[in-house]
Amino acid sequence: MTTVSVTLTVNGKKVSAAVEPRTLLVQFLREHLHLTGTHVGCDTSQCGACTVHVNGDSVKSCTMLVAQADGADIRTIEGMASPGTLHAVQEAFREHHGLQCGFCTPGMVMSSADLLTKNPNPSEHEIRTWLEGNICRCTGYHNIVKAVQHAAATLRQTAHAAE
Ligand code: FES
Ligand code: FES
Repeated sequence: MTTVSVTLTVNGKKVSAAVEPRTLLVQFLREHLHLTGTHVGCDTSQCGACTVHVNGDSVKSCTMLVAQADGADIRTIEGMASPGTLHAVQEAFREHHGLQCGFCTPGMVMSSADLLTKNPNPSEHEIRTWLEGNICRCTGYHNIVKAVQHAAATLRQTAHAAE
């Protein structure tokens, strides 16, 4: 079997492995590193359940080979907060009942966190547009949007307090 060597930083830890060249980033995270918070909902780049951060940008990890991510800094839902704590976006999803069945939630959280680093005060329209690549099959997106608005306010306050 032909393999390629990859070295990535995942949630702050350096990992190296020899993988088949066709290995997807999502497969590597779930099957090699057992980081199963990153979900596979479609495998065709539609649902966004597999969203992780690659060098700070949200990326659908089913659309990328792990070999393409060689040398990259990856963050998954498991690395969003230190153990026993929640990231402001996770906390807001819990508070605003944005979790629902929870399958899409990791991808929603990762996408939303990326949005809020790029746009700390998004309008409802901007949030809905940004999350178009993340599909939730449960209900309308109302609670998710409310959660993102709440997280945005919390993060703005935190940034303000740190100034
Ligand atoms: S599993 Fe990647 S977009 Fe659906
Ligand atoms: S919460 Fe169930 S699919 Fe979104």
